[in-house]
Amino acid sequence: MKILLLGKNGQVGWELQRSLAPVGELLALDRHSTDYCGDLSQPERLAQTVRDWRPDVIVNAAAHTAVDKAESEPDLALCLNATAPAALAQAAADIGAWLVHYSTDYVFNGQGEQAWQEGHATGPLSVYGQTKLEGEQRITASGCQHLIFRTGWVYAARGGNFAKTMLRLAAERERLTVIDDQHGAPTGADLIADVTAHAIRQALQKPALSGIYHLVASGETSWHGYASHVITQARCVRPDLALRVNEIAPVPTSSFPTPAQRPRNSRLHTGKLQQAFGLVLPPWQAGVNRLLTEIL
Ligand SMILES: NC(=O)c1ccc[n+]([C@@H]2O[C@H](COP(=O)([O-])OP(=O)(O)OC[C@H]3O[C@@H](n4cnc5c(N)ncnc54)[C@H](OP(=O)(O)O)[C@@H]3O)[C@@H](O)[C@H]2O)c1
Repeated sequence: MKILLLGKNGQVGWELQRSLAPVGELLALDRHSTDYCGDLSQPERLAQTVRDWRPDVIVNAAAHTAVDKAESEPDLALCLNATAPAALAQAAADIGAWLVHYSTDYVFNGQGEQAWQEGHATGPLSVYGQTKLEGEQRITASGCQHLIFRTGWVYAARGGNFAKTMLRLAAERERLTVIDDQHGAPTGADLIADVTAHAIRQALQKPALSGIYHLVASGETSWHGYASHVITQARCVRPDLALRVNEIAPVPTSSFPTPAQRPRNSRLHTGKLQQAFGLVLPPWQAGVNRLLTEIL
């Protein structure tokens, strides 16, 4: 089996390089790749890559993920998040390949307290959410076999992440203020990549699995709960760490104005994925604890 991976150096892309390696022959590209085009700003050349290399599965982990920046560059966000995935989907349909793609909780309007299910009405609040939704719609309309995983609050050991930022601030300050009115589940890029590998193997045997799935760790918290857990756990893992913080104050979203509006309710219901693929999604704390053990 041949797997084409796009966005190989992002949080999820990096972990996919690991998890997909034993699944098939892997061609992993980023926007700078030269032998084949992996640049989402060039949809036609991307489609040509698919026609030339003829993968059985395309996994697209690349996207315009700078949520605030997208507000001021909507055309680029649309190209990367919708036009390029649509070109990949059309090329996949033409050669009978599967397309695996990632979307976001930001396709919802964030109202209410219930976990969003796949069939619930969408209502994005930002350019990022709108363009990601359009990407989903164009993939679905293309008729290609697809797995679209909506995820949220993604972190990875590699590069910057929320936990590292909190640890740095906790070493510098006695008091932190963290948003407590947005709710979701911190989800490791490693979990997303592992689930993707399992799902691909099953989907290839069972085409009826084609569809949209919510993929986040189990449980829920707020950014404030997440930060508090990180600091408490860091003190357990490394009692010798010099953390000055003695108060983590909960504050509303309005305390940190941003160009893009974020949904308050980012809870995603994952029953469909767990049932369809027979997989278990571990509690978010398990992944965060593992991350802390790794980075501290
Ligand atoms: N991060 C989250 O919290 C989150 C939440 C919900 C959904 N998602 C979705 O999950 C997927 C993976 O996200 P992630 O967290 O791994 O994001 P990420 O770390 O920001 O990775 C995105 C990747 O896309 C690449 N990229 C940007 N412009 C490109 C272009 N023109 N051509 C090719 N590649 C390009 C980036 O490359 P450079 O490094 O060269 O810029 C980067 O490697 C995305 O579809 C995202 O929308 C993420």
